[in-house]
Amino acid sequence: MRPCWTLSREVVLMYPACEHIDMLRILVVHGPNLNLLGTREQSIYGTLSLEALDSAITKLAKALAVEVTQCQSNSEGELVTWIQKARTRYDGIIINPAAYTHTSIAIRDAIAAVGLPTVEVHLSNIHQREEFRHRSYIAGVALGQIAGFGPTGYLLALRGLHDHLATGRRQEKTPTLVTPRRRAKGTRPLRSRLKDRIQSEGSIE
Ligand code: DQA
Repeated sequence: MRPCWTLSREVVLMYPACEHIDMLRILVVHGPNLNLLGTREQSIYGTLSLEALDSAITKLAKALAVEVTQCQSNSEGELVTWIQKARTRYDGIIINPAAYTHTSIAIRDAIAAVGLPTVEVHLSNIHQREEFRHRSYIAGVALGQIAGFGPTGYLLALRGLHDHLATGRRQEKTPTLVTPRRRAKGTRPLRSRLKDRIQSEGSIE
């Protein structure tokens, strides 16, 4: 049975662009065997190629005014290196670590080390599949996990990560509203209490 995933125009286009001038930068990392998407176990992973998936991600990124870079590797070490390098170049990571999800403490540690908000994506619902796929070493250090929505999962991840990062930036820019502390009933204002102390002690250290 083929999965019925499609990338609808609505999902790609319905999101409004973020108003920030500084573009958010997101790294999309595809793990092992995802280069074979489109031909690999179509009943599980569908027929969309990695290239087509990446262009759908790029299209949504443009609509959101996000800069995305995609990369794919079959090598654990290379994935770790890209994650490490992302620390100074990107605001967040979307990763499908594929089979390394279930085995790689090195990838988990790299994500924890860089401290960038990271969304874990799986095309299939790993929790419905073989038991060895139920455990994710990545989930514990991820902002969130999306599984079972096929290619749309990447678009949901992009939207979610964009909103998370944009909210963070807005909060950074908003000055904190300083409200005067409430005085306990019956107490006098600090200024008046200090005045009394200065008069009785001569000075305040
Ligand atoms: C996968 C699920 C993994 O268990 C598997 O090893 C993959 C792909 C997914 O996208 O559904 O290669 O990450």
